[in-house]
Amino acid sequence: MPVTQILPRKVQTLIKRIEVSGDKESLPEHAGLHYRKVLRALFETGRYGTYLEIGTSTGGTLVLATGRVIAVDPDFRLTRNVLPGMTELHAFQTTSDDFFATQDPIALMQGATMDLAFLDGMHLFEFLLRDFINTEKVSAPGTLILMHDCLPLNGVMAQRDLVDVDARTDRYFGWWAGDVWKMLPILAEHRPDLKLACINAPPTGLVAISGLDPQSTVLSDRYEEIVARYAEEELDTPGARSLHERFRPRPAAQALADLGHPISAG
Ligand SMILES: C[S@@+](CC[C@H](N)C(=O)[O-])C[C@H]1O[C@@H](n2cnc3c(N)ncnc32)[C@H](O)[C@@H]1O
Repeated sequence: MPVTQILPRKVQTLIKRIEVSGDKESLPEHAGLHYRKVLRALFETGRYGTYLEIGTSTGGTLVLATGRVIAVDPDFRLTRNVLPGMTELHAFQTTSDDFFATQDPIALMQGATMDLAFLDGMHLFEFLLRDFINTEKVSAPGTLILMHDCLPLNGVMAQRDLVDVDARTDRYFGWWAGDVWKMLPILAEHRPDLKLACINAPPTGLVAISGLDPQSTVLSDRYEEIVARYAEEELDTPGARSLHERFRPRPAAQALADLGHPISAG
C-alpha cells in the first residue's frame, strides 16, 4: 500500500491537490445540449409513460419526469417538489442492488415495462454494469436507457477514487465521472446487438441505448469475467481522447433520432 494511503483523508487531499493541479490536457468540453436538457426534451415528446431513475440526489433530473416514476437512491437529498409532472412516484431510499433484489419494477408499474431509464447512481463500472443488467430485464426492445458520465474529459475525473477530483483547484473540481466509461468497450464487445449512441452532453456525456433484450443473459453470465478483465484498467487523458475518437459523441437530436427516439431540441 502506498504510504499516502495511510495518511488522514485531508492530508491525502492536499497531496493530490499538488499532483493534479498541473493537468491541463483536458479534452474540449462537450458542446451539445446539457444532459438535463436532453432528458427534458425526451419527456416533452410525451412518449415516456414509465420512468426509472437510479441516482436522484437533489432531484435535478427527477423533477423533469412525467407519468409513472420509480426513483432509487440510498441518500435522497431532494431540494424541490419533484412531483408536478408525475401521476405516481415510487421512491426507494436504498441502493439499486437492494432495490432490484427486493422489488419488482414491472409490478410497481402495473405490468408495464420501463419506457425510459436514467442510470446515474454509483460511478463505478461494476455498479453501472449491474444497474444496466437489471434495467434491461424490465425493459422492452423500444425502451431507451440513458447512462450518465461515460465520456469523461480527462484522466482525473475518470479515476475510481473521488479524492483526486475533490483535490482539483481548477473548474473541474467535483466533476467525478468515475470509471463508468468502461461500459462503452464492455457493451461494444459483449453486446454488439444493442443500438448504442453517444451524445455530446455536458458535462461528461450521455450514452443512449435501445434495441434491448430483456431475455439476454450474456452480461450476467459473463459478469465475473468482465469485472476481472476491467478492474485494473485506467484511463489517462490520452486514453479519454481515444475513447471519444472511438465512440464519437454526437448532438442529442442526431444520436436519438438514429435510435428511433427523436426529440425536437438540440
Ligand atoms: C450524481 S448523483 C445523481 C444526480 C441526479 N441524477 C441529477 O442529475 O441531478 C448520484 C446519486 O447516486 C446515488 N448513489 C450512490 N450509490 C448508489 C447506489 N448503490 N444505488 C443507487 N444510487 C446510488 C448517490 O446517493 C447520489 O445521490
